[in-house]
Amino acid sequence: MANDFDRFEEGRRKQTAGESQGVYSDTVVERFYNPENLGRLADPDAYGIVHGWCGDTMEIYLRMTGDGIKESRFMTDGCLLTAACGSKLTTMIEGLSAQKAQEITPQQLIEALDGLPEENAHCAKLAVDTLLKAIMSWSDEQSGA
Ligand code: FES
Repeated sequence: MANDFDRFEEGRRKQTAGESQGVYSDTVVERFYNPENLGRLADPDAYGIVHGWCGDTMEIYLRMTGDGIKESRFMTDGCLLTAACGSKLTTMIEGLSAQKAQEITPQQLIEALDGLPEENAHCAKLAVDTLLKAIMSWSDEQSGA
C-alpha cells in the first residue's frame, strides 16, 4: 500500500520539467524538486490538519521553544504547488514567534514564492490555514483551553 511519501513522489514524477518551466517561478520549481521540510515530527508541540475545498489535505507539525517555532514539517496529498507552499511556509516560520508566524498571509507566501498562477492561490491559503490551526492548537493548550 502506498504511503504519503510514495504518493507525493508519484505526483512529482508526473510533473515534468517541461510542464513546470515558464509557468511557475524558479522558486516554485525549486520547491517542487527540493521540498524542504516535507515529513512529520514525532511528538510535535503543535499540529494542524486542514482539508481544502479542492479535496487536498495539508498537515503541519511544529516544535516550539518558549513561544518560538524551533522546527516545522508539513505533509500533503495535494498538488506540487501545495507542496511548494508547505515547504516555503515551514521554512519561513522557523525562528519566528507564534505571534509573528500567524501574521503571515497567503499573499505574503505567494510573494515569497515569486508568484503562483491565480488558479492556485488557494494552495497558499491551505498552507496558511493549516499553520493557523496548528498555532491555535498550541495556544489553546498553553492557555489550558
Ligand atoms: Fe488543492 Fe493545491 S490544488 S491545494
